[in-house]
Amino acid sequence: MPFGVIGKVRKVFPGGEPRSAASEPVVALDDASFQFEEGELVALLGPSGCGKTTLLRIVGGLIQKTSGSVRIGGREIVRPTGDYGFVFQAPSLMPWRSVLDNVLFTMEILRRNDRAAHERARDLLHLVGLSEFLTARPHQLSGGMQQRVALCRALIHQPKLLLMDEPFGALDELTRLEMNDLLLRIRQETGASVLFVTHSVPEAVYLSDKVIVFSKRPARVVKEIAVMFAYPRQQRLRFTPAFNEAERIASEALGVLAPATDEMSAR
Ligand SMILES: Nc1ncnc2c1ncn2[C@@H]1O[C@H](COP(=O)(O)OP(=O)(O)OP(=O)(O)O)[C@@H](O)[C@H]1O
Ligand SMILES: [Mg+2]
Repeated sequence: MPFGVIGKVRKVFPGGEPRSAASEPVVALDDASFQFEEGELVALLGPSGCGKTTLLRIVGGLIQKTSGSVRIGGREIVRPTGDYGFVFQAPSLMPWRSVLDNVLFTMEILRRNDRAAHERARDLLHLVGLSEFLTARPHQLSGGMQQRVALCRALIHQPKLLLMDEPFGALDELTRLEMNDLLLRIRQETGASVLFVTHSVPEAVYLSDKVIVFSKRPARVVKEIAVMFAYPRQQRLRFTPAFNEAERIASEALGVLAPATDEMSAR
């Protein structure tokens, strides 16, 4: 039995509710199915608005699915568990707390804010290169540094599964590449499984064991691409023909590449 089983998940947001974006019902997910093994890093790639965030929130137990099944570690997920870490596009740190106390916030919620937690927070912040900034406030950090703090906050309770929703989308290219390598290093050290939502084809291919490509809304899985490159990976990988080929397959599944024949006749 795989570690994660997402089976025929469907989500309809009812229309006409005060908090709903639309007045008509919105089918965000329809028959979304895929599986992953423990420790795998799975990239979720799909057009804007197709339902990726919705799926991640369902997997995290933050919202309810309309039908279908989400089993992680053999358990059906119906509400948030303490076993996950979340990283969103914006770091959303608490401005009045120090870096260290932001990371420890998760442990306060879980009532596990003990000595060991402090040690682990320091270790994590060291790992991401922020040892000098334990007492700094978020506004004193760059965007990339803030996102590293958010990553530590997501990892402090040693989650089995890390749910990441375009975590590096707001960063400049160089910082983004550095964060990619950092994530891979952390994944290696923690053994956590990761579901990683991104818009970036190269980022998806570089990071993952497997790329799941979604259709336009309502999201269905249109392609699963096994990414066979060995870990640890190096940035040089991006400039190899094999990497290029994986990007092409993902781009074609996404629908951003016209079929080859059209391309030829256009010339
Ligand atoms: N609470 C909600 N109420 C009503 N509709 C919603 C709600 N949340 C999301 N939706 C709708 O569901 C669809 C999927 O949204 P979602 O945020 O999951 O897309 P996404 O794939 O994450 O997009 P992006 O790549 O732009 O972040 C959209 O049409 C959105 O308007
Ligand atoms: Mg989203």
